[in-house]
Amino acid sequence: MIAILLGPPGSGKGTQAKVLKEKYKFLHLSTGDMLRAAINAKTPLGLKVQDIMARGELVSDEIVLDLIKEKIAETSPNQNVVLDGYPRNVNQAHSLATLLSKYERKVDKVLSIEVDSESLITRLTGRRTCKVCGAGYHVQFHPSKKAGVCDQCGGELVQRRDDMVDVIKDRLKVFEGQTSPLKNFYSSQGVLEVIQGDQQPQEVTQEINRAMGI
Ligand code: AP5
Repeated sequence: MIAILLGPPGSGKGTQAKVLKEKYKFLHLSTGDMLRAAINAKTPLGLKVQDIMARGELVSDEIVLDLIKEKIAETSPNQNVVLDGYPRNVNQAHSLATLLSKYERKVDKVLSIEVDSESLITRLTGRRTCKVCGAGYHVQFHPSKKAGVCDQCGGELVQRRDDMVDVIKDRLKVFEGQTSPLKNFYSSQGVLEVIQGDQQPQEVTQEINRAMGI
């Protein structure tokens, strides 16, 4: 199965993709994580995209397609895959369909996670991530035992550069303008399922599992 988690920044795509990876052995492909890894490693790609991401804009379609192409090429034909943050506009969705068709695969499910804007801002401004192991926290909803320190590995917890209120507002506008048209795109293909994201993470997981039949 190829599943896409579609939703605005902070809707819980990364949180739910991790569950699919850990519990159901999906391959988790997050273009945001790949780009952040390139920035942290100071690769030429990282240097090219860091300011664009800090502003909350989308990087070019060619860059993300190259990242996804490489991963899909390495994936075995029966591997379940969850795409988190890709595609992000209709052009990327067309490129994805063309890419998958080369492997005789297609998008099977698109889970559109819906959350109101106010909750998204609270979620994103409070998000903290471990610099070492990548574990996710939230200062209010899922705090670490010791402030600023990861419970799992003792690493430093950091805030993403694009999780500042002004940048979050710009990211939400980018989602509305460029990404939300994908709902109609996938709905017309009969693969879209709407997930109520304003619930406890475990309840969102249950809804996703039901929609995916797992
Ligand atoms: P990306 O990394 O994909 O970020 P995003 O889509 O903005 O999404 P987030 O990672 O911010 O949120 P999420 O939905 O994963 O929520 P999470 O689970 O973390 O992209 C970043 C940038 O990279 C883009 O702006 C762009 O520049 C570039 N980029 C990436 N892909 C691209 C592409 N395809 N094309 C072009 N550019 C691209 O949860 C958020 C917080 O809420 C956490 O603290 C979590 O603990 C909490 N939370 C989660 N679920 C719940 C719940 N049910 N209740 C309460 N709190 C919850």
